Amino acid sequence: MGTEILTDLSAATMTGSGYGLISDAAIAIQGGSVAWVGPRSNLPAEYTDFSRRGLDGRLVTPGLIDCHTHIVHGGNRAREFEMRLEGASYEEIARAGGGIVSTVSATREASEETLLKTALSRADALIAEGVTTIEVKSGYGLDRDTELKMLRVARAIADQRPVRVLTSFLGAHAEPKEMDADTYIDTICLPTLQEVHAEGLVDAVDGFCEGIAFSPDQIARVFDKAVELGLPVKLHAEQLSNIGGTALAARYGALSADHVEYATEADAEALAQAGTVAVLLPGAFYAINETQAPPVEAFRKCGVPMAVGTDWNPGSSPLGSLLLAMNMSCTLFGLTPAEALAGTTRNAARALGLSDVGTIAPGQRADLAIWDVTDPAELSYGIGINPLYSRIVAGREAP
Ligand code: NIG
Ligand code: FE
Repeated sequence: MGTEILTDLSAATMTGSGYGLISDAAIAIQGGSVAWVGPRSNLPAEYTDFSRRGLDGRLVTPGLIDCHTHIVHGGNRAREFEMRLEGASYEEIARAGGGIVSTVSATREASEETLLKTALSRADALIAEGVTTIEVKSGYGLDRDTELKMLRVARAIADQRPVRVLTSFLGAHAEPKEMDADTYIDTICLPTLQEVHAEGLVDAVDGFCEGIAFSPDQIARVFDKAVELGLPVKLHAEQLSNIGGTALAARYGALSADHVEYATEADAEALAQAGTVAVLLPGAFYAINETQAPPVEAFRKCGVPMAVGTDWNPGSSPLGSLLLAMNMSCTLFGLTPAEALAGTTRNAARALGLSDVGTIAPGQRADLAIWDVTDPAELSYGIGINPLYSRIVAGREAP
């Protein structure tokens, strides 16, 4: 791969604490990585002879990263949307046998081909908004075969599209209809985790710690297995109540604690100590009519890095737009547009344990998004507006 110099652009490098904005910048790409970035006037002499591509003043950011999705799933839950509008809560629907376990039935029934086809169309929607890395969870199988099927499909997305995919095993997502939670953890979840790891299908281990899902003790058993296998952990924690999931995640040095609406200031301190990212998921907050916003001020005060994801799933967050998630993180949770963009770049990378993406800096993978905007705040300000011009993935044009 040759060297290409991008010029006539401004770069939101996302290095440092804000946008790390360089106006009239140049970016040198070599062998799939960023070799140099800075003001065009400082471009080192060694690059002056290489081919140049002018971007007509467009904004370049790191490729966006959706660090929390469930885009591999069967069916939809539009009927539950109607039920919620008729007054039922997300928890009531789950306790009455709807919710996650209804998607489990649809996902078990779906063929691998159908699951891949629908997952690819969801991945395409994210890619169309400048996303270059997507995290995908299992957790709608709750049996060995379907969990394996979901993770194979997740891996296959990256074979078929120019996008990087990271997988999380979410076996501890809900109690299946056919057995109690403890039996499920011991006889299905843990052996399946061992197997998906042996097959190289899993990058991290996730769980759902909640009254309608698993207790901290049950999640700890799953995390112990993850530690034994050398896999990083993350957790759906404190979404609907506070039962100690965030503290547990911090104790295990989790990559991220996600949702965290009911996290306390003490939880924020624990996350900061552990270096755990708080992943904010405003799509779920919005779709299930939550009223308790995550403690953003405490996260800021304690220095907890905040990421933003779609949580794209058929129940609590049928949200297929990371740009809209950024907008919602500002309007619903009070993030600044700079925090929202850090949340889908630098901090989203960290929530996935990735250090080679999320910023534009020498040595980083050249995963870039080029936008028809002049001010980076426009990315969070628009509602249902997609200003993507094109993407570059590992140094290659990937529109
Ligand atoms: O992230 N919180 C748990 N899991 C998903 C919801 C899954 C569903 O409702 O299907 C979430 O919100
Ligand atoms: Fe989720």
